[in-house]
Amino acid sequence: MSDNKTHEAHGSDVRQKAKKEMSRRQFLTYTLGGTGGFLAATMLVPMVRFAVDPVLQPKVKADWVKVVEESKITDTPASFKFQIHQVDGWYESDPELEAWISKEADGSILALNPTCKHLGCTVKWAGNPEHKDQYGCPCHGAQYTKEGKALRVAKLPLDQYSVKSENGFIYVGQLHANEVAK
Ligand code: FES
Repeated sequence: MSDNKTHEAHGSDVRQKAKKEMSRRQFLTYTLGGTGGFLAATMLVPMVRFAVDPVLQPKVKADWVKVVEESKITDTPASFKFQIHQVDGWYESDPELEAWISKEADGSILALNPTCKHLGCTVKWAGNPEHKDQYGCPCHGAQYTKEGKALRVAKLPLDQYSVKSENGFIYVGQLHANEVAK
C-alpha cells in the first residue's frame, strides 16, 4: 500500500472515531438534560398548581359534625367517635375521629382530642389505674387533667374541638389549641 493510501485510511479512522465520540457525547447531553428537565417539571407542576389554584388547596375549615345527644354528656369524660369528610386536592376520605366529651362545673361542654401532645399516642380518661380522675397515655405515662392540662411528660395541653349544642345534640367542629386548661 502506498503512503498516500495509508494516510487516507488513517484519516477516515479518525473521522469515524470523532463521529462516534460526538454521538456518545450528544447521547449523554440529551439523556441528562431530559432527565433533569423531567425532574424539575415533576417538582414544579404541583407547586405551581397549588400556588395558582386555591380550589386544590387542602380544606382547612372543618364543618360541624353531629356527635351525640346532649343528655348523654355527664361530668365524667366519655369517648365518642365521629366521621368527617376530608378533601385534600383530588383525594377525598372519611376518617373516623374521637372526642372525649364532658360537662364542666359551669355547665359548658368540653370536647378534647385524645392525641397525646408528647409523641402522638392516644390518651384515655382514667388510662392510668392509679389516677382515675385524669387522662393517661399508655406510651410514656403522660397525664392530663379533665380540662386537658399537661401534668407530666407532655408539655402542652390536649387540643380541643369547638362545640355547639343544637336541638338536643352536641356538634363538634374545628380542632384548636386548648383554651380552658389552666
Ligand atoms: S406519646 Fe403519650 S406519653 Fe409519650
